[in-house]
Amino acid sequence: MTTFSNAPLLVTGASGNFGRLAVEELLARGAKHVVAGTRDPSKLADLAARGVEIRRLDFDDAATLATAFAGIERALIVSTDGIGKRVAQQTAAIAAAKTAGVKHVVYTSAPAARPDADAGLGAEHFWTEVALANSGLGFTILRNHMYAENNLMDGPGAAASGQLFGLVGDRGTSYVARIDAARTAAGALLTAEGNTVEDVTGPAPVGNSERAALFAEVSGKSVTLVALAPADLKAGMVASGLPEGFAEALVAFQRDAVTGHHGVVTSVVEKYSGRKPQAFADFIRTQAAAFGN
Ligand SMILES: NC(=O)c1ccc[n+]([C@@H]2O[C@H](COP(=O)([O-])OP(=O)(O)OC[C@H]3O[C@@H](n4cnc5c(N)ncnc54)[C@H](OP(=O)(O)O)[C@@H]3O)[C@@H](O)[C@H]2O)c1
Repeated sequence: MTTFSNAPLLVTGASGNFGRLAVEELLARGAKHVVAGTRDPSKLADLAARGVEIRRLDFDDAATLATAFAGIERALIVSTDGIGKRVAQQTAAIAAAKTAGVKHVVYTSAPAARPDADAGLGAEHFWTEVALANSGLGFTILRNHMYAENNLMDGPGAAASGQLFGLVGDRGTSYVARIDAARTAAGALLTAEGNTVEDVTGPAPVGNSERAALFAEVSGKSVTLVALAPADLKAGMVASGLPEGFAEALVAFQRDAVTGHHGVVTSVVEKYSGRKPQAFADFIRTQAAAFGN
C-alpha cells in the first residue's frame, strides 16, 4: 500500500474535536509535513511547537482558502458545524483545493446522505459529495456514522428523568467513537486512492433499549425506554426547549435508524486505522462521570 507520509497533508477545522484528533493521528503515524488549517491559529500553538504548520483557514473567507490549500497534495476537509451554510462553505473549499492542484480529498460525510427533504442534515453532506465527485479530484468520502459521544447529550438527562425517548421501530445505530472516526480519516488521508464512498461505523448496531439499559447501568438509576411516533417525539423535544429545526434534525436521525440506514456495519475503521472500533458498551462504561457516578 502506498503511504503518502512525505506529502504535504492539510487538515481543515484542525482546532475542532475531530480535526485535532486527526492531526494527532497523522503525527503518530509518522506524517512528515502536516498542515493544520483553522479559523483561529492561536488555538493550535501547541501543535505549532511540535512542528505542525498552522495556516489560517475559514471557508467563508476566500483569501484564506487560496493560501491554506497552496502546495497541498492531499486534504482532509472536515465538515463544518455551520448548519445551513455548509454546502456553500464546503463547495468553496473543494473548489479552492482544485485550483491549488490538490490531488486527493477526504471528506467527512454522514450516513445515508441524500437530497430528500426529510433527510435531516444529510442533504448538506449529499450536495458536498456531489461537488466533490464533480470536481475531478480523487476522493474518499467517509460517511461517519453517529458519534458515540452524541449519547452524552441525551443519556445523562434520560438517567436523571428515568425516561429515554425514542421512535417506535428503532433498528439500531452503529455508534462510532469520535477518535476511531478521526483515526480512520487520518489513515485515509495517508493511504486512500481512487474514488470511494465508505461508511465509518462502530462494531454493531445498538438499539434504544440497549442504550437505556447501559444508561441505567452507568448511572445506577432506572431508565425506561418510551417509544413514540415521530410527531410526538419532535413535540416533546420542542416542549423541552429544543429549537424546532434542531428537533426535526434529531428526529430525522432516529427515522433513519428505524429504516435501517444507521444500523450498517463495515470494517472501514479497521481498514484505515488498523484498529478495531470501540464497542458502544465499552465507550459508555468509560463515561460514568457524565452520568453522575
Ligand atoms: N457523526 C456525528 O455524529 C457528528 C456529530 C457532530 C458533528 N458532526 C460533524 O463532524 C464535524 C466535526 O465534528 P467535531 O466533533 O470536531 O465538531 P466541533 O468540535 O464542533 O468542530 C466544528 C468544526 O467546524 C469547523 N468550522 C466551523 N466553521 C468553519 C469555517 N467557516 N471554515 C472552516 N471550518 C469551520 C471548525 O474548525 P476551526 O474551529 O478549527 O476553524 C471545527 O473543525 C462537525 O463540524 C460536524 O460537521 C458529526
